[in-house]
Amino acid sequence: MRGWLDDAPSYVPPVKVGAVMRALAVGRVVESKNDDFPVGAHVHGTLGVRDYLVTDGKDLRVIDTSQVSGPEHLAALGLTGLTAYFGLMELGKPTEGETVLVSGAAGAVGSVVGQLAKIAGARVIGIAGSDEKCEWLTGELGFDEAINYKTADSLTKAIASAAPNGVDVFFDNVGGRVLDAALANTARNARLVICGAISDYNSTDRAGIRNYPRIITHSLTIHGFTIGDFGDRLPEGMKALGGYLAEGKLVSRIDARDAEVKDFPEVFGALFEGTNTGKLIMALPGRE
Ligand SMILES: NC(=O)c1ccc[n+]([C@@H]2O[C@H](COP(=O)([O-])OP(=O)(O)OC[C@H]3O[C@@H](n4cnc5c(N)ncnc54)[C@H](OP(=O)(O)O)[C@@H]3O)[C@@H](O)[C@H]2O)c1
Repeated sequence: MRGWLDDAPSYVPPVKVGAVMRALAVGRVVESKNDDFPVGAHVHGTLGVRDYLVTDGKDLRVIDTSQVSGPEHLAALGLTGLTAYFGLMELGKPTEGETVLVSGAAGAVGSVVGQLAKIAGARVIGIAGSDEKCEWLTGELGFDEAINYKTADSLTKAIASAAPNGVDVFFDNVGGRVLDAALANTARNARLVICGAISDYNSTDRAGIRNYPRIITHSLTIHGFTIGDFGDRLPEGMKALGGYLAEGKLVSRIDARDAEVKDFPEVFGALFEGTNTGKLIMALPGRE
């Protein structure tokens, strides 16, 4: 979403000044002249940050909230979980016994990535910004190790100590110095999955990657992606994620903040301040 606010060409057009902020959301039909969208049904789609929307229903789908909550359709079962699933399984391709390192590990995407890597039989190390987040990762989520990047004397050394045989898959949500520290610890033929670069989204002076010669010396593969690359395979990912959730193999944490439309900038800012754990969701008052 942050990238959509830059006046620059990207994978989707930028949101214009004064326009409704683009956002995936779950809403409820309150009036309808379309039998496909009966009153009371919950719908999922790019509804935007707003109270009400008049639409012909194009690109919206009715979702079943009887078994899975509306917010869950945005979290582990939504594009968050799908980003984790396809990025890790199709690009990172972890195998049993390999070491997977994930940054932004206690966030929405990262927390799912680490758990999927455990399901794949990998040893999993998370990087997160507080001791509480690290304890959640190694406790409830079953990560093997977690590093607090804010208090580690040297992040590079901390990763080296947690991954003595090197990192086989690095799933990056953060970029910047975290990416550089991970790069310095890669094993031969490691795969780097570049999902996000939140540490750089607001910076005007990007540091760049200093440890890039490692890409040559260790025969690394770097995959950047957006979830749109897997647009025709989403049902496959939803089936797998739904199965893991139902079996209790995947813990999904939703960090819902009650707020009004005007409060969106403050709620959104939590992602950059790191005050969220799991999937940050803005919940408009009085809606079900
Ligand atoms: N490629 C795709 O299709 C795709 C799809 C969805 C999301 N993404 C990207 O994936 C990343 C994660 O998204 P999300 O929605 O799951 O958000 P999130 O991880 O739930 O929230 C962002 C987290 O980033 C961490 N962070 C913020 N500033 C940081 C900094 N300067 N250095 C290190 N960590 C920082 C914070 O946790 P700490 O407390 O650990 O600092 C914060 O909680 C984002 O970069 C996003 O743009 C990509």
